Formats: sequence, structure tokens, C-alpha cells
Amino acid sequence: MRVLSGIQSSGALHLGNYFGAMKQHIELQHENECFYFIANYHALTTIQDAERLQQLTFDVAADYLALGLDPNRVAFFRQTDVPEVTELTWILATVTGKGLLERAHSFKDKTAKGLPVSMGLFCYPLLMAADILIYRSDIVPVGQDQVQHIEMTQDIAGYFNSTYGEVFVRPEPRLNQTPVVPGLDGQKMSKSYGNTIELFGDAGTIKKKIMSIKTDSTPVEAPKDPQRCNVFALLKLLASPEETAEWERRYRAGGMGYGEAKKRLAELYEEKFGRLRAQRAAWAARPDDVEDILRAGGKRARAVAQEVMESVRRACGLSARPR
Ligand code: AMP
Ligand code: TRP
Repeated sequence: MRVLSGIQSSGALHLGNYFGAMKQHIELQHENECFYFIANYHALTTIQDAERLQQLTFDVAADYLALGLDPNRVAFFRQTDVPEVTELTWILATVTGKGLLERAHSFKDKTAKGLPVSMGLFCYPLLMAADILIYRSDIVPVGQDQVQHIEMTQDIAGYFNSTYGEVFVRPEPRLNQTPVVPGLDGQKMSKSYGNTIELFGDAGTIKKKIMSIKTDSTPVEAPKDPQRCNVFALLKLLASPEETAEWERRYRAGGMGYGEAKKRLAELYEEKFGRLRAQRAAWAARPDDVEDILRAGGKRARAVAQEVMESVRRACGLSARPR
């Protein structure tokens, strides 16, 4: 199976990215042909500061490597190292109705909030479709918020294939067990809501954030519903099944304060991510090696993309005339 996914370099990665997407990216690398990239063209729709974008792109790379992405198994690269995706974006734009893009949730949310919508933001799903189709990807592991974009990609592949013949494969989304990870305030954890718990934050800051997770005002003695608690939702991602069952029992029995669950969550976070800080720091100290990995991954990915683009150009009548 060919597996592909991307993550934007638009802010520090957080538990939502990890449990929604990256965890399965790393698991899937063992038995599939994987292509994972840093979506820095997409990040331009929010980050317009060159130095910051460079830094964030490097940070996403170091985070993935510290979490166990194996660059020998995976083609791990920067979106911009395969500029053919922008060519394909244009071609896909010519077979896609404007109405499809107007129905995208991310675009509708931003317009509803009265935020300015650039053409880049409006066309975001077309670039994402090009990312997926240019590698003939079978499976796209993502969080819930990206499923609509993949369904749009299926539609766009269909428009192209019915116009020009079967060039593209129909990709399928793949979700983790936790397709939506809640943030500190109970909304979806997201860079743009300021409710994140970062993967590599310093211990003190993370602990403070965890202690500030929003809970209801049920008194300590009263029974509590774990299914409606943001702390429990995060705790179960990090605790063993046995420990999770025990917390569930304690919630329902009453006599337990949310503070106790928060303290345990902070400990579990440290056990999992605290341990990886040294690896993260080691990658940060080797920027040239990180660069080499991204370039090598880009070369592998580009070879596939160039071949597919040849078929696309031929199908549309855009090839140079053979002599
Ligand atoms: P982004 O940071 O928007 O590039 O997202 C990268 C990946 O993380 C995508 O597959 C998202 O669906 C996933 N993701 C981001 N936030 C969450 C969340 N709160 N819960 C689950 N998945 C998420
Ligand atoms: N839009 C995705 C996100 O915000 C990132 C992304 C860009 C992506 N291109 C992709 C994800 C292709 C999967 C496949 O999360």
C-alpha cells in the first residue's frame, strides 16, 4: 500500500497532531511504502514571515525524527522540494467547479468569522488533492478535520479521470481511534485556538497547562461522568487500558477531584514525551543531517511525481511533440 500524509509547518506540533495523525504515520512506516511531507506551501496561507517559516519547517522535521520516523523507510520531505505539485494544482483547478471549493469547511468557517480569504486559502483543497494524487496514494492517514479534504480529492480525481482517462488512483482516508483530540478548553485542540499541549514543551509550562484544563464544577464527593471530561479524554490516550479502566471506575464512584486526574496526566505526559526531549535536542543540534534527510526524501518523492506528471501531461495534450 502507498501511504501519504502531510503536516503544515504553521506552529508547534501538539497532542492533537500526535494522537490524531502522527502516531499512525509512525506505526504505518513498518509495513507500507510511506511518503510523509511538511506542507510548507500550505503553511504560507497563515505564516508570512520567512525566518519563522524556515524555523517551523525545521522544527516539524526534528519533531518527527525524534518521535521515531525512520528516514530509511519513509520518503520524508518538504512539499516545496517537489514543485510539480503546483503544476498539478493548476491542471486540477481546470476540471474542478468553484462550488466544490465553496463547500469546504475550513473556507466556510473563515468566511463566517469575517476573516480575509486569500485565493491560496480558497484553493487549499486543490493543492492538497495534488499532493495526494501526484504520488498515486492509496491511504491518507489524518485526523477527522481533514476527511472532507480527502473526499474532495476523490471527487477531483473522478473529474479528471472522466475527462481524460484513468490516470489517478482513488485515495481513502484512515483515522486513528481518536480522530478528534480535545484541547485545554474542550474544543478541538488546534494551533489557531491557543488551547494546545505541545509535544516538546518544557515540563513546567506543560504542567501548568494541564492543571488549567477546563472541567465542570461537580464537587469532589460526587460521581463524575468520564465521557464528558476533557482530562479523562487526554488521560486515556496516555494511560494503559488497565489504568484507564481504573480511572473510569474512580470517576463514577465519586470522592475523586479533577486535580488528581490532572496530576496523573502530567506524569504520564512526562513519561512519554519527557523521555524524547533528549532525542529532540540531539536532532536540533544536527541541522545539516536533517537537511540531508529532507533532500534525499524529496529526491525519492520527486522521481515518482515526475513520472505521474508525464502521464498527466500526455493525457491532457500538454506534452512536447516527439520528433
Ligand atoms: P495540521 O496541523 O493542521 O497540519 O494537522 C496535521 C494533522 O494533525 C492532520 O492530519 C490533522 O487532522 C491532525 N490534527 C490536528 N489537530 C487535531 C486534533 N485536535 N485532533 C485530531 N487530529 C488533529
Ligand atoms: N491540510 C493538512 C492539514 O492541515 C495538511 C496536508 C497538506 C495534507 N497536504 C496533505 C494532509 C495531503 C494529508 C495529505 O492537516
